[in-house]
Amino acid sequence: MHNAKPRRISLGVNIDHAATLRQARYREMPETCGGIIEPDPVHIALLAEDAGADGITAHMREDLRHIQERDILRLRESLRTRLNLEMSCEESIVAFALRLRPDSVCLVPEKRAEVSTEGGLDVAGQLGRISGIAGRMRDAGITASLFIDPAPEQVAAAAKTGAPCVELHTGAFANARRDPARREAELSRLRRAAGQAVNLDLTVNAGHGINYHNVREILSIPHLNELNIGHSILSRALLHGIGPAVHEMLALLRGE
Ligand code: PXP
Repeated sequence: MHNAKPRRISLGVNIDHAATLRQARYREMPETCGGIIEPDPVHIALLAEDAGADGITAHMREDLRHIQERDILRLRESLRTRLNLEMSCEESIVAFALRLRPDSVCLVPEKRAEVSTEGGLDVAGQLGRISGIAGRMRDAGITASLFIDPAPEQVAAAAKTGAPCVELHTGAFANARRDPARREAELSRLRRAAGQAVNLDLTVNAGHGINYHNVREILSIPHLNELNIGHSILSRALLHGIGPAVHEMLALLRGE
């Protein structure tokens, strides 16, 4: 049985989409100031911490489509849990991470050539480059994780890089919503990959597309250390927060 003993799985909350919403209105002035430029992803991160999140994940993409450098600097100063910086393998971003010193980084593909067939980082195809980055992170005391497909060759390659951790890409499983056979096949791949990773002394995290409906199935993956979840938690926050937000505006309209 996979769930033989109870485990405490950490929750990393990805706040990127709080910044996506901000950028939709304030692309020209992305600096959050005085609560006017809203929503503030750092404020959201602090509330997630208050609610018990074990860490906060943010991805400063090269195209800066959501999180900005200033957000990351403010997160670094404000968080009381852990900052996990999702990042590309681009040298300028690697140098930024080494200066910033987040608690951990998760290397993700951004350029077409870095993407494996299914969407994770193609570690097997760029072993030297990724080993180099993993080594520099280790020397700086930063835990490096590699976002990979649950494919045997990628898990094996990840272990060769010296990175201590992998994040298994759960997107193919999540996308197989209407195909139970595919879904079960993807879950089996994830379970096998987790077992292989642990045998190679890798810590196993998972993320992408995990939501309130599929998380129970995700828990059948053995050896999970941490789940990184963004879109569904922020969507749920909007859903549950719409009532109070409307009440507050109505109270202002009515001078209450
Ligand atoms: N983990 C990684 C490496 C990601 O790239 C993402 C998406 O940015 C997530 C986790 C979170 O995915 P989601 O927003 O679908 O929960």
